[in-house]
Amino acid sequence: MTLVVAIDGPAASGKGTLARRIARHFGLPYLDTGKLYRAVGRKVLDAGDAPADEAAALAAARALRPSDLDRADLRAPDADKAASEVAAIASVRAALIDFQRNFAAQGGVLDGRDIGTVIFPSAPVKLFITASLEARAARRYHERQARHETVTLAEVEADMRRRDALDATRAAAPLRPAPDAVIIDTTSLDPDAVFARAASLIEAAF
Ligand code: CDP
Repeated sequence: MTLVVAIDGPAASGKGTLARRIARHFGLPYLDTGKLYRAVGRKVLDAGDAPADEAAALAAARALRPSDLDRADLRAPDADKAASEVAAIASVRAALIDFQRNFAAQGGVLDGRDIGTVIFPSAPVKLFITASLEARAARRYHERQARHETVTLAEVEADMRRRDALDATRAAAPLRPAPDAVIIDTTSLDPDAVFARAASLIEAAF
C-alpha cells in the first residue's frame, strides 16, 4: 500500500501546518498543491493576462516548472485571487494532475482542495481539516500582519468568504470532503492536538 496522506480543507484551516508536520514525522515528501494554482495564477498575471482567461491559464499550467513553486510572491493577496480563478478552470486542473500523482507515486503528503476526491481517491488516509470562517480569517490576518501587510481583519474575512464560495461552488472539483474522509474541526484545537489526532489515524491505517 502506497503511503499517501490526502489533506483537504478551506483556506487557513490549518491543513498546511498539519501536512508539514505529518510529512516530517513519517519521513514522507510534502506537496502544498495550492502552490501549483498560485504559480499558474502568477504566470498569467506576469504575462498581463486575466486569470479567468482559459487559454492564458492553460498555457501557464502547461508551462509550469518545479522552480515556479519556489517564487517568493506566491502568497501575496493578488496571488490568492488569481489562484482561485485559475483553479476553477477544468482544463487547468486536468493539466496539473500528473504532476501531483507523480510526486507521490512512492508515497507522500499532499494538501489542497481535491486530493481525497480527485487526485488520490484511493488514498488510505484522507483528512478534511476545517474551522469556522472567523477563526480562519483571524489566523490569516495575523499571518499578514506578521508580514507587515496593511490589511484589516474585515478585508481578510471578506476575501476568504469570496474564495471559499468560489472553491465550494465551482463545477470542477469543488471543495468538499471525500465520503471516507475524517473531518477535523480546528476552531478550538491547537496544532499539537490536531497532529496527535491525525498521527493516530495514520498509524492505525499503516
Ligand atoms: O493557503 P490557502 O488555503 O489560503 O490557499 P491555498 O491552499 O494555497 O490555495 C489557493 C487556491 O488554490 C484555493 O483558493 C483554491 O482555489 C485553489 N486550490 C485548488 O483548487 N485545489 C487545490 N488542490 C489546491 C488549491
